[in-house]
Amino acid sequence: MIQLNERKAFIAMIKVDISNVWGELSLPDLLAVEKEVAAAHQTLTDGTGAGNDYIGWVNLPAAEETDEMRRIRTAASRIRQQSDVFVVIGIGGSYLGPRAAIELLQGCNHNIGKGKGDPQIYFAGNTLSTRAWNELQRLLDGKDFSVAIISKSGTTTEPAIAFRGLRWMLERKYGTAEAKKRIYAITDPVKGALRQMAEEEGWETFTIPPAAGGRFSVLTPVGLLPMAVAGIDIRKVMAGANEAKESYNRLRSFENPVWLYAGIRNVLYRHGKCTEIFVSYEPGFRMFGGWWQQLFGESEGKDGKGIFPVAAEFTADLHSLGQMIQQGQRNIYETMIRFNAPEQKVVIGSDCRNLDGLNYLAGKTLDFVDEQAFLGTVAAHVDGGVPVITMDMGDLNEEKIGEMFYFLELCCGVSAYMLGVNPFNQPGVEFYKRNMFKLLGKPGYEE
Ligand code: PA5
Repeated sequence: MIQLNERKAFIAMIKVDISNVWGELSLPDLLAVEKEVAAAHQTLTDGTGAGNDYIGWVNLPAAEETDEMRRIRTAASRIRQQSDVFVVIGIGGSYLGPRAAIELLQGCNHNIGKGKGDPQIYFAGNTLSTRAWNELQRLLDGKDFSVAIISKSGTTTEPAIAFRGLRWMLERKYGTAEAKKRIYAITDPVKGALRQMAEEEGWETFTIPPAAGGRFSVLTPVGLLPMAVAGIDIRKVMAGANEAKESYNRLRSFENPVWLYAGIRNVLYRHGKCTEIFVSYEPGFRMFGGWWQQLFGESEGKDGKGIFPVAAEFTADLHSLGQMIQQGQRNIYETMIRFNAPEQKVVIGSDCRNLDGLNYLAGKTLDFVDEQAFLGTVAAHVDGGVPVITMDMGDLNEEKIGEMFYFLELCCGVSAYMLGVNPFNQPGVEFYKRNMFKLLGKPGYEE
């Protein structure tokens, strides 16, 4: 029985629509996993499952602004005043979240026209590409800049190499003492080379809670410092996350969209749908798709199990992946993300010659056309045997970003426990590193 206040909270929640998944499946298939979803959610919130020393993120969002958030906002306003460019160094969970938030709220071209007062933000240390490094050098030429190094372990190779180079650039440009004031380290409170360096060098530090693993760390300083430097109000982001924490953990039934999404994706998987395409119709969503891809991929892909996560952007990717989705191997399903249209409308005009034949759209808004493309795509893909889940996010704003991050993290934890894996480790990631270290001659990796 749902209480009135729960019903009210539910109305404001992200809406997960599964009316387009039926075909080979039916409602009883979903109802049959209800107890499993309930148990997985309970395991997560009770902290009794595998990897339970990494569930600090579940209760992380707080109702009030914390001292660390205040310190982040102070550091961000200093960085904004003294930098044309802010370079965020990190890889995987130490970079995807902040980049996702900034691009979704401000667009992929958010750096255009920015400088001191509202700095450009570039991400480094997520690649070993020499071309990318050379490009960054050109971007920084003649610019005042500050750097954040984000690494929980403090030992990851890609960010460590980028940081060494950028630290030396700062020291050459500003001298050792001034350079120290332009370096911010976000890392474990106690362990790791980065923590030790930061303390010896006197850089300002922010803490990644030990109980929040990389891909579950976006709502810590990992995500919050870059967002604040981008001018995003992190108090609103955390208010949205806190609201999500309360709402999505309170409701324990299929009226909870977390249960619906986690439940239906496991049912689909058991019916042979082992690839999920996570689609939005917003170019600014691409990096958010990348964050989701890492969250689910690294959490679920183990022990020979897992749904392969693919992020895509429609309608652009309908012209690249569309054929495969419509008529390729029938092992996929889609999750389509929708937002309310923005208030500022674009109306298609009328042309007296109508040589392009577009006058049938004259007077229509671009978001109306987008909506018809969405509806037409859902119908086509369902006809082609691709189940489609729809997630209606509502308005896109700072609170919503916080809500989306928390919501999807919770979905991931519940879904992975249903799958029977530990969502919070990533033993497979070490394999390439071991080979690379051996090839590079890193001490200790000779054998
Ligand atoms: O989710 C994870 O744990 C990983 O993606 C890490 O975030 C990534 O490997 C970077 O690790 P670190 O922050 O220790 O440099």
